[in-house]
Amino acid sequence: SSSPAVLTCKAAVAWGPGEPLVIEEVQVSPPQPMEIRIKVVCTSLCRSDVSAWETQAIFPRIFGHEASGVVESVGPGVTEFSEGDHVLTLFTGECKTCRHCTSGKSNMCQVLGLERRGVMHSDQKTRFFIKGKPIYHYCAVSSFSEYTVVHSGCAVKVNLAVPLEKICLLSCGVAAGLGAAWNVADISDGSTVVIYGLGTVGLSVAQGAKVRGASQIIGVDINPEKGEIAKTFGITHFVNPKECNESIQQVINQITEGGADYAFECIGDTGMITTALQSCCQGWGLTVTLGVPKVHPELTAHYGTFLSGRTLKGSLFGGWKPKSDLPSLVDMYTKKEIQIDEYITHNISFEDINQAFSLMKEGKCLRCVIHL
Ligand code: APR
Ligand code: ZN
Repeated sequence: SSSPAVLTCKAAVAWGPGEPLVIEEVQVSPPQPMEIRIKVVCTSLCRSDVSAWETQAIFPRIFGHEASGVVESVGPGVTEFSEGDHVLTLFTGECKTCRHCTSGKSNMCQVLGLERRGVMHSDQKTRFFIKGKPIYHYCAVSSFSEYTVVHSGCAVKVNLAVPLEKICLLSCGVAAGLGAAWNVADISDGSTVVIYGLGTVGLSVAQGAKVRGASQIIGVDINPEKGEIAKTFGITHFVNPKECNESIQQVINQITEGGADYAFECIGDTGMITTALQSCCQGWGLTVTLGVPKVHPELTAHYGTFLSGRTLKGSLFGGWKPKSDLPSLVDMYTKKEIQIDEYITHNISFEDINQAFSLMKEGKCLRCVIHL
């Protein structure tokens, strides 16, 4: 086929921090070597998009990183994808050749890892323009656009039969939570689990813990409305810190008779990491952090916490190697071994994308799926 040209389409552009997105006509460059251009079908809004939009300094910018779509064209050298393939985007890629990709121990790709400067990995430039002016990317995905360009290592092919409007959630939040439970913590049968923060991430940890046969899955959230919905994902006890007379760690220590086997921080509040550690049992208690703090990135903990045998573990994307491992999660969804649909509280048309931001800021949604 002839080589792809610049195309013009609609994109939701963020012009400044916290400013409502504006649907604009943007020019999208053809895919460069080893890149693909994708027609985005669905993208869900993740807490990280909202946090970055509120706090970061790189603008104008196209956010969005949890997405599914169809390959529109491929750049020079791409053999893995062809026009019409269905894909999920990856906010952290996998080159399959670097030290980390070949280690068997890490998903922290040194070539296509988390991109923070708003440009493409290969040439530090953008693929979006308005009247010749660059519009920056987010996580080298930028799915709040009808078309986007990503590195071929930052997308994974999926079966044509799976519904793109559901599996976009596997691009980030749901997969991160399941991976934290299965890969990072490796929760064992009959164990006790406490989860701080019952958004999509925390409730995906809950689902993962339930699949592994945890005996107690305690959910902690300051939003009282989370108690009811959390039960459908396996939460056995709901604790609202606002309604506790004792400290949260005391409450957890009572329920679990001496501390949970596993604690997960899914809020993005480093103070809660300290609390999570204190609610784990001595000897083998493991705290896993998933939240991305907006402020106060440093954490405090008494060294005795660790001297008595507790562990603190971090991970990105639940430890999954994104390209290698996501197809198996998609298969599990197809076989109804994991739930995804239940996290979708709202379906929103692209023109109404700002509603999704409002719903998330107000704590009124789990995932909003935006249909392009
Ligand atoms: N104590 C308990 N719960 C809290 C607190 C607190 N101090 N502050 C917030 N929460 C709850 C909110 O009420 C909400 O239910 O934490 C939950 C967070 O959920 P979402 O905002 O829906 O976020 P989610 O998409 O699940 O992501 C959680 O993981 O990937 C990161 O950047 C992401 O840091 C964020 C975290
Ligand atoms: Zn790599």
